[in-house]
Amino acid sequence: MRTFFLLLLACTTVASFCSITQAADAPSKPSSSGLVYPKVKRVNKQWSFRSAKANGNVTYDDPYVWLEQPPANDTAIQQFLSNQASVTESYMKRCSNLKQIQQSIQQATDYDEYDEMGLFAETSASPFYLYTLKRVGEQRPTWYKASVAEFQAGKKTNFANPPGKPFLNESLLTADGSANIVAQGVNISPDGKIFCYLVSGDNSDFATWYFRSINTPLVSAKTFPKGGEGSLPVNIPFNQQDVKWTADSKGFFYVQAQTNGDANANFMLRYHKWGTSTDKDITVVKPRPIFLQMGMSYDGRWLHLLGFIDQSFKQFAYACLLDGQPVSENMKWISISPDYDYQVYYIGTVDNTFYFQTDQGNATNGKVVKAHLDWSKARSTNTLTDIKDRLQLQEVVKERDDALIPQVNAFAYAHDKLIINYIESGKDTLYLYDLKTGKQLQHLLPTETGSFGLLRVYSESKRAVVSYSAWNTPTKIFELEYSKTTGQVQSSTVTIQNVRGSKASDFSIEQLFATSKDGTKVPYYVTQKGKGKECRPTWVHGYGAYGYKESLFFFPAFFTFLNDYNSRFVWTALRGGGDEGGKWHLDATTTHKQRTYDDWIAILEDLERRKLSCPGQLIVEGGSAGGMAALAVTNQARQGLIGVVFGIRAVTDYFLIALRSRLGQAQWSEFGNPNIPAEFDAIRAWSPLQNTVKGKQYPAMLLAAGQDDDRVSPAHSYKMIAQMQYEHPNNKHPLLLYVASGTGHTAAGTSTEGATLQAAHQFCMIEQALGIKQQAAS
Ligand SMILES: *[C@@H]1O[C@H](CO)[C@@H](O)[C@H](O)[C@H]1NC(C)=O
Ligand SMILES: *[C@@H]1O[C@H](CO)[C@@H](O)[C@H](O)[C@H]1NC(C)=O
Ligand SMILES: *[C@@H]1O[C@H](CO)[C@@H](O)[C@H](O)[C@H]1NC(C)=O
Ligand SMILES: *[C@@H]1O[C@H](CO)[C@@H](O)[C@H](O)[C@H]1NC(C)=O
Repeated sequence: MRTFFLLLLACTTVASFCSITQAADAPSKPSSSGLVYPKVKRVNKQWSFRSAKANGNVTYDDPYVWLEQPPANDTAIQQFLSNQASVTESYMKRCSNLKQIQQSIQQATDYDEYDEMGLFAETSASPFYLYTLKRVGEQRPTWYKASVAEFQAGKKTNFANPPGKPFLNESLLTADGSANIVAQGVNISPDGKIFCYLVSGDNSDFATWYFRSINTPLVSAKTFPKGGEGSLPVNIPFNQQDVKWTADSKGFFYVQAQTNGDANANFMLRYHKWGTSTDKDITVVKPRPIFLQMGMSYDGRWLHLLGFIDQSFKQFAYACLLDGQPVSENMKWISISPDYDYQVYYIGTVDNTFYFQTDQGNATNGKVVKAHLDWSKARSTNTLTDIKDRLQLQEVVKERDDALIPQVNAFAYAHDKLIINYIESGKDTLYLYDLKTGKQLQHLLPTETGSFGLLRVYSESKRAVVSYSAWNTPTKIFELEYSKTTGQVQSSTVTIQNVRGSKASDFSIEQLFATSKDGTKVPYYVTQKGKGKECRPTWVHGYGAYGYKESLFFFPAFFTFLNDYNSRFVWTALRGGGDEGGKWHLDATTTHKQRTYDDWIAILEDLERRKLSCPGQLIVEGGSAGGMAALAVTNQARQGLIGVVFGIRAVTDYFLIALRSRLGQAQWSEFGNPNIPAEFDAIRAWSPLQNTVKGKQYPAMLLAAGQDDDRVSPAHSYKMIAQMQYEHPNNKHPLLLYVASGTGHTAAGTSTEGATLQAAHQFCMIEQALGIKQQAAS
């Protein structure tokens, strides 16, 4: 999944390997859920903001602000965590079947999970495929390397046996198996000799590049040095993304954060000459943006640098001709778009023409444009910001009114072809175009009813690997091969994997619409086993931010919920997300953010009205910004509408992330700037922590925080649960915190066991709160 820019950006790194061993406080009296919530210290802290509505300052209290400190050295916070863990544990003991639930979720991983597949070293003497495989019971995937012939032969047996040989077992990167390779974090030098891999050791948003010879696999290990046994003595920390090798394999460019955890971390473009020490690396430019990305032409002549300053993803774009220019701290560059006027998602560079996906000229549904790279304008710089030329853009593929190109969904392919993934009526649809003329050439792969997937094109040659993951099919991988003779793409199936004992056709999916507060029709997708119409417990997942299109990806816990309970699962296309086009996103930003929450509530009420869900049997769940929405919705929804709410790595205090976290400013274009009086008023009215409702009976609540989350600090969950328990000591349903140890913000770095354990806790709460039981798994 291409998620590099999707979620909230990183907060300060918290090295919080706190031990949770201390005894609980003396108990106060039990709540009506039978639980005894610990007493939590409250401090006298107020914040003051200018309000447009009040025409003056407005203050609010922040009694749990002390929980924002890094817990490592703070015994009071350790005590708080220990007390919360005791309450949660005592509640979970009510589920005698916790182990069985865990096993059942584990069974939903019972398929061969192939991923990260692609052809590498395409221009070398012997190109090869790399891919990962994770089998049931394995905590981490293993990388395999296969020749082109081996890979092609594997297709004939649906990859029943992994073709080629194991190359790197991620479990062996550290002694305790806690490290993993970041998604899309593998690169091969163009000559095919060096395997480069981006390792995250503590689930931080920042990771370290390691390097090994392609002739040195890591399939068994006696020692566990950083990067794993046999890695080369070069490493590059504080990275988030790909390296770009020069065509001659003599060195590579990389983007590095200057320091980790620094509130003002700057990113730099640097160059490493292979075979030298990293202290000799050259800092090529040091511009201002909070996030930098590189692009490199097929022929290695052009290097591009793109950067954004907030999550509107309006980018600056520059280009550097590497041909005949030695790498230095004062190279010549040209600017394409210097002022963050529009989005620039890199597609490719052919000859001297730069192609990108953009929303330029209010094309919020996305289009493809090109610019001629006029090198006569080049000037030396080490900041870029002093070059302000703008290149003329020419349209290649016009914006469509009836379809959307989601962020980063147009790819150069087969030298001068283009693949675009459009969303047409909620369905992913692939087309082939001529890159130079923009002529549509072919519709690729059948559009599958109800199957929504994310596209992955690894290869820029005539071969591309496309993977779909849908809610009912964990893995579907296809290969596209362009033929010059026919001018057409031939597609073939690499592998289709189902969870053992189930088939995709066991499940149905239906698109429905709810009417939001302002009359907008909001789509949502109901999936279930069979076609029954009776009311069922219904899990409603939402996100609704950053223009991100919620794809129906496979997730073992969601699958288990559908498979093991007589239930429904709902995906929502809330405004703020990109499901219905760029305008759909912009309609629910800053002072209109409330629309996201209105949409979610409208869907919940619609499910109730249609009698698809019984009263109190709705489960509301979201992660990160989606967790913030889930909690805002829970505060605002009618008492009794929701049965259970899950906030996963949730933002609960928008003021904390916007004003007191690394790169919080990046959130302002999306959710509002608290320093602008009108925007403050809007935020003040929905930010979950500031809007809990005293006297209201809340649904069962589980806030699942990542102990090492450096994007959304776990303090968001700590503060919210402390306040909920303080204000609602007699809530009928439990209000609990679950801290996943050794995990960061995303599921990607979490071991299978860790992910399963958290989901089992969620299921236990659902069973208790809704009074339902898991049916014997089929
Ligand atoms: C009003 O709020 C602003 C913004 O937070 C702050 O700078 C100012 O000191 C406050 N004024 C008073 C009187 O509290
Ligand atoms: C905790 O204390 C140690 C030793 O005094 C110090 O090196 C470290 O930086 C502190 N950690 C935090 C998160 O404050
Ligand atoms: C990877 O290593 C782990 C830990 O040693 C082991 O349990 C697992 O079977 C290995 N996987 C493969 C595919 O060899
Ligand atoms: C884009 O939309 C904004 C806001 O509606 C408007 O002010 C601006 O003129 C438009 N720009 C173009 C190029 O159409």
